Amino acid sequence: MSATQCLRDEHQNILKALVCFDVALGKARTGKIVTKDVFGPFIEFFQRYADHCHHAKEEDCLFPCIDACYSDEMKRQMQVLLDEHVRARQLVKLMTENLDEADAGDPFATTIFLDQAQNYRDLIIGHIGGEDFRLFILADQTITGDELRNLNIAYQEMIEQEEQKTIVTESEAFLERMLSQYGSSPSEC
Ligand SMILES: [Fe+2]
Ligand SMILES: [Fe+2]
Repeated sequence: MSATQCLRDEHQNILKALVCFDVALGKARTGKIVTKDVFGPFIEFFQRYADHCHHAKEEDCLFPCIDACYSDEMKRQMQVLLDEHVRARQLVKLMTENLDEADAGDPFATTIFLDQAQNYRDLIIGHIGGEDFRLFILADQTITGDELRNLNIAYQEMIEQEEQKTIVTESEAFLERMLSQYGSSPSEC
């Protein structure tokens, strides 16, 4: 039993989506064309899987456990990560707000979309690094016993929610489609 393994596993899926997103962004930047067909499903993945499933597990399960029990350094790191979740939501909102006009060929909306998409990609890659290689290492070392058991019960309760199951199933299908579209193997995408 681990304090962070299910979150680390979700990070791998988010990173795969971001590698594919990066390829799509590169093509869009070259052609100066942003379409809803290409980017709508990515935004949906970021909203539903990365935020509604994954960030929610961190905010509702792991972070309250850290906030209640652990060191000032862990709480400081956690606050930085919480602020990054807020920033990520703002960036996804900006992408969403500009997608229709970008899809219609508006150059200003296209530029805003591409800039905020790049910011989102960079933010989340750094964010996952901050979790996997800093806070989660501390959490794995320090959350034990009843706290660890209760944390895993909390994760499991979220995982078993029907809405979460649907999101996970649909997100896995999305990742498979992206893998076949943008790369031939998980290491490429
Ligand atoms: Fe996070
Ligand atoms: Fe995370």
